[in-house]
Amino acid sequence: MRIDKFLSEMGIATRSEARAAASKGGVTVDGVVIKDLSRHIDPEKCTVTYLGRTVGYDRFIYVMLNKPEGYVSATEDSRLPVVTELLSEELKKRELFPVGRLDRDTTGMMILTNDGVLAHTLLSPRHHVAKMYFFTAAEPMAEGVEEYFRDGVTLRDGYECKSAVIELMPDRLSGYITLTEGKYHQIKRMVAASSNRVTSLKRVSFAGIPLDEKLAPGEWRMLSDSEIAQLRSQQ
Ligand code: URA
Repeated sequence: MRIDKFLSEMGIATRSEARAAASKGGVTVDGVVIKDLSRHIDPEKCTVTYLGRTVGYDRFIYVMLNKPEGYVSATEDSRLPVVTELLSEELKKRELFPVGRLDRDTTGMMILTNDGVLAHTLLSPRHHVAKMYFFTAAEPMAEGVEEYFRDGVTLRDGYECKSAVIELMPDRLSGYITLTEGKYHQIKRMVAASSNRVTSLKRVSFAGIPLDEKLAPGEWRMLSDSEIAQLRSQQ
């Protein structure tokens, strides 16, 4: 990777700032002053300093976002805002993408990363990663819906869902549903199969990691080391 690209991706300096610093001897690679920032380095093997400070290299980045309504779970869309627009300018350069999809009107826990291998594992149907949602329904959920969900709902298109857990609030108008798969509109379609309708949906945890309730809709933070370890333990 070019040195100026590395410095800009790590959020240290724009390319022109880096060029100005380098011309005054402010950039070193493995202890050697470098003036030509178009030179390529392997950031995993080199030690780069900028104005006397070592620049650490995070190869993979893991972000927790509280997805707001109205955003598409994608990196680009010709018409609508996408979740990656909510990240900082530095992170936008790191080519993060959402791990899985939430509908445009679904809110809550979303992981974004540039770790394609881990994302693939987390999304693979073989790994049964748990996702918990809080939903509200148009009508009280029917008696016996707990067993109906546990035994595997058959959707209107014939797809047989895996066993899911539903925990209802006393008025049966809302509750939590935990899935270990992620089909298109799955919760909405499961609730529709029970002759009801979802009126709001929020993902509250992913792979056992709860949404940080300190994050307002649209806010994000880096995952902690223990949360990253929790994701990796799903492999
Ligand atoms: N199920 C849905 O219906 N929508 C989502 O966004 C996620 C799960």
